[in-house]
Amino acid sequence: MDKNKKAGRYSRIYFQLEELVKKSDNPISHMATVLAVLHHKMDYYFWTGFYLLQDGKLLVGPYQGPVACQELTLNKGVCWAGINQNKTIVVNDVHLFPGHIACDSRSNSEIVVPLHNKRGEIIGILDVDSKDLNSFDDVDAEWLQKIIALIAKK
Ligand code: SME
Repeated sequence: MDKNKKAGRYSRIYFQLEELVKKSDNPISHMATVLAVLHHKMDYYFWTGFYLLQDGKLLVGPYQGPVACQELTLNKGVCWAGINQNKTIVVNDVHLFPGHIACDSRSNSEIVVPLHNKRGEIIGILDVDSKDLNSFDDVDAEWLQKIIALIAKK
């Protein structure tokens, strides 16, 4: 999608979500709402969800899309790379990413964005997959960081 069109769509989603999250202060409700809006408004999103850290494991949280892996093998793949480096990672071609975990073989590009608690500690990661190569760029990274900052923090 053209970068200007993409940015316009994200900004409309952001303002919609800003209103929706006022109706609760529950992080899981917020995650589910953010995912439902993103997944249905961004047509190149194929799988949209959170993996959450629990006792040193990375377990699937709320998501939209095909059934995903329940737990991601420790320190392997894109989500763990995002967690360990505590940074947003854009992967243009998942087949070229060492250790990429294919929960669904139809995914071809991916972005991960870390999620933090009130103390700034990393608690999980937003993961979005696309069936197309090169779907994500700096516009997705910037807006997804802003959007997940709307999620209530514990
Ligand atoms: N591809 C991810 C695994 C999660 S699925 O894409 C839903 C990874 O390599 O960590």
